[in-house]
Amino acid sequence: MSGRPMEARARACANIALAKYWGKADVRRNVPAVPSISMTLDQLVTETRVRFDRSLSSDLVRLDGRRATEAEAERVTIMLNRVRREARLPVKAHVSSHNHFPTAAGLASSASGFAALAGAASAAAGIPFNARQLSALARASSASAARSIYGGFVELPAGGHGDVDLAARQIAPPVHWNLRLVVGLTEPGKKKVGSTEGMERSRKTSPYYQAWLDQAPRWSRTIKRAIKERELDTLGAAMERSTLAFHCCAITSDPPIFYWAPATLAALATVRALRERGVSVWATMDAGPHVKALCGASDASRVRQALDRTQGVTRTWVAKPGPGIEVHR
Ligand code: DP6
Repeated sequence: MSGRPMEARARACANIALAKYWGKADVRRNVPAVPSISMTLDQLVTETRVRFDRSLSSDLVRLDGRRATEAEAERVTIMLNRVRREARLPVKAHVSSHNHFPTAAGLASSASGFAALAGAASAAAGIPFNARQLSALARASSASAARSIYGGFVELPAGGHGDVDLAARQIAPPVHWNLRLVVGLTEPGKKKVGSTEGMERSRKTSPYYQAWLDQAPRWSRTIKRAIKERELDTLGAAMERSTLAFHCCAITSDPPIFYWAPATLAALATVRALRERGVSVWATMDAGPHVKALCGASDASRVRQALDRTQGVTRTWVAKPGPGIEVHR
């Protein structure tokens, strides 16, 4: 390794969960308790560069041009430590990461961020590219990041206690289905509870958490089948159920977690009204108030216009199925 520059960069896209991950089977190893399925999104890209440097005495982490907070840097160092152990490389690193998201996207960048970091850090440490291993590494930091290693339509199975190798896998490539995700940004509500904390609170306190665990695998199976057969109505109906069920766990936690803003309900009503007029469009939300509407390519501009006219929706844009991770040494 000495003599070679221990540097690499990687590019990974965010993803939207069609079947939602909410809840952990093993908190320490970050193993999801339910299977999830996602579509990787083009446009929402994180680019990360990692350089191991023997002259450093601690990791130096920059995010979007600023110094990372202590909490952010700690999560990065935890992943770097895993890579250092695997590569037997006791060397600190410079990390610099940029989110190329539409301005103020209001969408989580942790999935694309940890996927890109896993790819760049592993390559910089000289570990040969292995998508499955990268996915397991990303999953240990943030489970949704495991899915961003692959392009198109991706599943992350549920795991059990002590599952160290759990990784995502591709169901179908981006070209399989020309879907669109119309993202409707809503006015920010109260400061949100992060998904890690939200799902832990649900697990410990929601009386509906067990019901969620019991039902989630069924929706996930339906969604996987619907992707294979390109049946949007079946996929959309199951996606909405999965979404509402995990939000039900959040709302019934103690203290309750309301991710929705008034505009969230207005946007949901817009999506329902479009459906009543015959458009196959279906809504989903994550740990925040924004509404994302899934539809076919030919309906995307109509859906976007309707969301643009919805009270409290501040911005919209359209994403399509995107590629998997790219790594360069
Ligand atoms: C609601 O992957 O952010 O977006 O593993 O604790 O980092 P951690 O959680 P994270 O959770 C994402 C939750 C979700 C649904 C999903 O993306 O599946």
